[in-house]
Amino acid sequence: MSDQNTGQIDNVLQEDRLFPPPAEFSAAAKIGSMADYQTLYDAALNDPDKFWGDIAKEEMHWFKPFDTVCTQSGKDAQWFTGGQTNISYNCLDANIEAGNGDRAAIIWEGEPGDQRTLTYTQLHAEVCKFANALKSLDVGVGDVVSIYMPMTPELAIAMLACTRIGAVHSVIFAGFSAEAIADRNNDASAKVQITSDGLFRRGKVLPLKATVDTALEKSPTVKHCIVLKRAENEIAMTEGRDVWWHDLMDAASDDCPATPLDSEATSFILYTSGSTGKPKGIRHTTAGYNIWVKKTFQWVFDWKPEDVYWCTADCGWITGHSYIVYGPMANGATCLMYEGAPNHPAPNRFWDIVERHKVTILYTAPTAIRAFVQWGDEHIKKHDLSSLRLLGTVGEGINPETWVWYHETIGNKNCPIVDTWWQTETGGIMMSPLPGATATKPGSCTQPLPGIVPVIVDESLTEVGANQGGMLCIAKPWPGMLRGIWGDEKRFEEQYWSMFPGNYLTGDNARVDDDGYYWIMGRIDDVINVSGHRLSTIEVESAMVSHPNVAECAAVGRPHEIKGQAIAVFISIKDAEPTDELRDELKLHVRKEIGALAVPDDIRFTQSLPKTRSGKIMRRLLRDIAAGRETAGDVSTLEDLSVLAKLKSDDKS
Ligand code: WTA
Repeated sequence: MSDQNTGQIDNVLQEDRLFPPPAEFSAAAKIGSMADYQTLYDAALNDPDKFWGDIAKEEMHWFKPFDTVCTQSGKDAQWFTGGQTNISYNCLDANIEAGNGDRAAIIWEGEPGDQRTLTYTQLHAEVCKFANALKSLDVGVGDVVSIYMPMTPELAIAMLACTRIGAVHSVIFAGFSAEAIADRNNDASAKVQITSDGLFRRGKVLPLKATVDTALEKSPTVKHCIVLKRAENEIAMTEGRDVWWHDLMDAASDDCPATPLDSEATSFILYTSGSTGKPKGIRHTTAGYNIWVKKTFQWVFDWKPEDVYWCTADCGWITGHSYIVYGPMANGATCLMYEGAPNHPAPNRFWDIVERHKVTILYTAPTAIRAFVQWGDEHIKKHDLSSLRLLGTVGEGINPETWVWYHETIGNKNCPIVDTWWQTETGGIMMSPLPGATATKPGSCTQPLPGIVPVIVDESLTEVGANQGGMLCIAKPWPGMLRGIWGDEKRFEEQYWSMFPGNYLTGDNARVDDDGYYWIMGRIDDVINVSGHRLSTIEVESAMVSHPNVAECAAVGRPHEIKGQAIAVFISIKDAEPTDELRDELKLHVRKEIGALAVPDDIRFTQSLPKTRSGKIMRRLLRDIAAGRETAGDVSTLEDLSVLAKLKSDDKS
């Protein structure tokens, strides 16, 4: 931002500016006014069983009808018990039966520029074949299948094939290290691994299979590894264990009826970071998850059959599960799927895709938007983006300045922006504007969706008033909520339900303003958000401390212009000199232990870390130092004040 215009810019960015939906948008929208929203919200609040029961009957195929809509409350809530359905059936067969088999389900573009379109009928056939392929490897209901793949249609096919036969998929983002894969495979007792030879990233080939080979040496439960040929790089195949995707598919029939599954059957687990070092496998179920992602997709994106919808997430994260695969496909949407980097071969790649495929809805992350701002408007201006009618963001808060840029430069001032707040645990979007109804405020995720009852409390569990920050909890169960942490019932209870019994603790701080709009204020715990990806500081610390020259380490988040937050670590070393070589070695070490996304931006060597008298590392101080701020607040509990002075004067990497 230029200095000379600060006053004006401040004015533009005032947080209470309201952006009402364009009149034409509201006129064509399914929910076109706040009165419509209120009617829905009240119906869900006043009689949730009727509200969700009616939706479930209307929008889902039931092999066996359910007896009850929601039993119990809090952590024990169960949805649509007694019923049997199948997510893959609802995403594929149901669309074909409705006469939409010839509609494009996936329009895919590979990073090198190759393209494929799969209609719902074609996708159905591929999924059935792959489901039979899995069965041929003895995969059945409840077996865990670990997926480590590039963003190709086969990734979606693998997921839909698992849910078709009741196998539980665990998708691991293809940037994680061999160690991280092995940890997750072991925690889940995965039976089969799916991967590819390689993955294209910025024109280079990353050797996925080689990483998986290392992981499988430490994953004793995995009996087979299915390998998709994608990048044609040289790989080793282990006789008896490894099998090519195409060989299995050649042998498989495309007839595979969906298995009727209990509503509460586990559909998938997805590992995410919590406040301890060990990632947790968030467990989602069948019927409730299916309904939640289907309905929220309709509400938030005002989806219409002619839309070309593009969510730029990776299926390795919950956004890819819920809003590339299951939510859109449960509705019969046409989804664009892109394999590669946003700046390959040039920073205009996204806008080139939007123009060529006439994308109407774009759902991306603030970290990407900040990169676009930095790369410059010239890459955007040369493309016709007039097909766009709606924009969305997810993964972290968007700062108002970036929001306004998104609105003006990408949306040409006439696309509503849906800032969607939710979590891996919530299954789908919880708070968001409804684009035809809600007047938006830059930086606010506005209001809860029907069925969601947020409550903000202070430490004494008293509800706070308007404009006072507090811990964000959800007071009532909703169909898409997590049902557990894989293999760790105790942690599930402690982490989410014990602080405020009966209420779900989100782990985020938030405030609500005088208009009832919600503003997310960041995490309560030691989770940091790097480029929209959750990492626990303790995970990074554990990786660091496993290096022989690290005596002690503290990792904190610091503000970063593009990534939102970057990781800064403070390290006291042993038996080594504080050199740049050691810094590089430590970065490499974290890359190996967790993956590239956890590599710290700053490594600072220090003789000791600031601690309280009881021995707790004072992260608050370290956060201030990492951010280059004056250390604010109370330091009276600091054990050795000279540590602080030393840290401030120490070199920055
Ligand atoms: C943060 C991603 C502000 C938040 C879907 C949450 C957000 C965590 C937003 C979940 C948003 C996500 N505004 N913060 N619109 N969306 N967050 O599990 O801290 O990867 O708790 O799920 O991201 O991250 P997760």
